[in-house]
Amino acid sequence: MERLVVISNRTGDLENKTQTGGLAVGIVDALRSRGGMWVGWNGEVGRESKASRKTYDNVISLTMPLSEEEHEQYYLGFANKVLWPAFHYRLDLMDHRTEFVDRYAAVNRKFADMTCPHLREDDLIWIHDYHLIPLAAEFRQRDCRQKIGFFLHIPFPSADVFSAIPYHDWLRECFLQFDLIGLQTKNDVQNFCRYLREHSDVEFITSNTVRWHDQVITIADFPIGIDVQQFAEMAHQDDDTIELERMRRTVLKRFQIISADRLDYSKGLPQRMKAFRKFLEDCPEYQGRAEYLQIASPSREDVSAYADIRAELEGLTGAVNGKFADFNWAPIQYINRNIPREQLAQLFRCSLVGLITPLRDGMNLVAKEYVAAQDDKDPGILILSKFAGAAEELDQAIIVNPYDIHDVAQALKRAAVMSMDERRERHRSLLKQVTGNDANQWKDNYLAALQSAGTSGELKKRF
Ligand code: F6P
Repeated sequence: MERLVVISNRTGDLENKTQTGGLAVGIVDALRSRGGMWVGWNGEVGRESKASRKTYDNVISLTMPLSEEEHEQYYLGFANKVLWPAFHYRLDLMDHRTEFVDRYAAVNRKFADMTCPHLREDDLIWIHDYHLIPLAAEFRQRDCRQKIGFFLHIPFPSADVFSAIPYHDWLRECFLQFDLIGLQTKNDVQNFCRYLREHSDVEFITSNTVRWHDQVITIADFPIGIDVQQFAEMAHQDDDTIELERMRRTVLKRFQIISADRLDYSKGLPQRMKAFRKFLEDCPEYQGRAEYLQIASPSREDVSAYADIRAELEGLTGAVNGKFADFNWAPIQYINRNIPREQLAQLFRCSLVGLITPLRDGMNLVAKEYVAAQDDKDPGILILSKFAGAAEELDQAIIVNPYDIHDVAQALKRAAVMSMDERRERHRSLLKQVTGNDANQWKDNYLAALQSAGTSGELKKRF
């Protein structure tokens, strides 16, 4: 079996036996069974930190720090002030400067320089996410003929929106150096193919396979999954504090709603809080009973759009609590820090509603985790945005338009009175879906497709 070489902006923790998150679970498993290498940024910034090469049995971890400029211009700059907002349909937040794209290209060159000397001829190379779109092109320039696949974890926007990104032509040329372009959803694949039809001369061999020069490129959807069993086990561990929370639901008949997100403007947090406020106004019988717990883990705090959203949320929480709270009840609990995954899993288990309403999301694994954490005798209800990639698979959730505050408030109302039979029926179907396409299945599907993708044996050098 070919070795696997994975390259992503951040690397996973190969030291740890138990991995968290879909990406790490699937990838560490594949790396351990095939042997290989995981290359990426070590998460550190500055001159003190050094590149390192460590070996864990049959897997090599190759990491490097970023300089201050690289962090500023490649990671915070082109990746998170240009690509991230644009791919999430927020062209208004795009803040482009020439030095950003230059540094983005330079860091990709650096990743290629660091990786190339360690590559074997028959390695399978799997590159992840929007930070590393030009990396295959860099490898091809260095005469690498291996199969190179890409997986985009975030949404691929509509053709018009993508074409509004400065340097989209260059990005397209970079994309076309891969053998396989994996996206999260069928909608993403349609967007990508439509963009190619409208903005390039590639020849379509099938609806999702194109020929460009001597290269055949497949574009397909591979919806990412989670380790269902691991998450369910965490959710069912005993914990006294969480037991109290569960009693609040069963004994005190509290209507508990939970949301957990990175604090990102794409997650629709202000709209969600406003929808909850509308629910309290429309259903006064839930004042004193409804409790909305929002866990928002800090993220990319050096980007001003993230600081703005944080300030907005703090204002909204204060306003809603100020208006509705009583001395023995506050409608919103807002936690702006990371909490341990075990605790999160248990909180999911005892909340009647998982309210997951991003304005745009590649997949949203929290939605799948909420489903995995539920008890099948007394399962909670998932309310899910139609703009989360997960909505393509999880159609038994209550699907809402996150921009429509009235629609989300109505969904909360529906959830509050949903019969146990309906809850169980929906949950059965959601769990089947989440289990049928878990982290391992995702990785197996992708790697099988990569192995059979591309035009083998030909020199793939085009620059
Ligand atoms: O969802 C895209 C993604 O890049 C994930 O891969 C990552 O876990 C998350 O966003 C957090 O991003 P960052 O690495 O910028 O903290």
